[in-house]
Amino acid sequence: MSTQQASPDKYLAVRKDIEKVFPKEDYDDGSFAPVCLRLAWHASGTYDRKQQDGGSEGGTMRFKTEAEDPANAGLDVARQVLEPVKAAHPWVTYADLWTLAGCVAIEHMGGPHINWTGGRRDKNSETDCPPVGRLPDGALGKNHVLDVFVTRMGFSVQETVCLIGAHTVGRCHKDRSGFDGPWTETPTRFTNQFYKQLLHNTWVEKKWDGPKQFVDEDGDLMMLPTDMALLEEPFRQYVELYAKDKQRFFDDFAAAFLKLIELGVARRSNL
Ligand code: HEM
Repeated sequence: MSTQQASPDKYLAVRKDIEKVFPKEDYDDGSFAPVCLRLAWHASGTYDRKQQDGGSEGGTMRFKTEAEDPANAGLDVARQVLEPVKAAHPWVTYADLWTLAGCVAIEHMGGPHINWTGGRRDKNSETDCPPVGRLPDGALGKNHVLDVFVTRMGFSVQETVCLIGAHTVGRCHKDRSGFDGPWTETPTRFTNQFYKQLLHNTWVEKKWDGPKQFVDEDGDLMMLPTDMALLEEPFRQYVELYAKDKQRFFDDFAAAFLKLIELGVARRSNL
């Protein structure tokens, strides 16, 4: 019997404590949930199926090499906010805490329940960090998205479109990625709005002294070049599907996100 089956309640207490740290009136849109979701994704999205390394196991973003990857700028906010949860439950590994926080964030914002299981181990040295530069670059296009998600991590095209739908929550920060603004008008509600906005809004290139991004007519909402790439095939058909069918998005997202946070995770055999 696995540890978590033996004592399910210990993770329940961690979940509850994670949820308590999310609300924060004077931060962004009033919640740390989006940045905690991004932490779970960036901790996992370094996986390389050919090299058989990277992924959420190890909790290696604690170390300088990974923490200072420019792609991870701003994720110190999420790691800091989760520290009191780690202090209250010192037996939880960072690898488990960060992936669980992403799942709790999704559900807390009204999204689907993810069938998370614990058992990830922390690695304890700087040398365990995956190579810097594996996370996707929002300034690039369709081939880059395919390279990262399909070729390197092993997702299908449909799973790729589904995962990027997480941009329905949160926002870009000028002082972190250089991009600016939220994707939807409800950045703390997990919905299929991202796809609706992408398809039905008019997107124009933002005229500014910053990286190439797109804005709607009012200039309130934004899209990254990689988001805009989803309007092209082979992606577009799934954008149309998820814009129409929120339940389908939720079901597929729950499965794809679980796959993401399990990449490269090798649990000890249950004794
Ligand atoms: C092509 C793939 C992707 C690219 C290029 C990308 C890029 C970005 C960028 C540039 C930001 C803004 C960061 C900041 O300035 O604070 C961001 C935010 C975010 N991303 Fe992605 N992302 C991708 C895929 C994903 C996936 C797969 C997920 C989750 C499953 C995700 C979840 C988020 C969330 C929740 C935020 C908001 C964070 C906040 O509000 O602080 N992204 N992403």
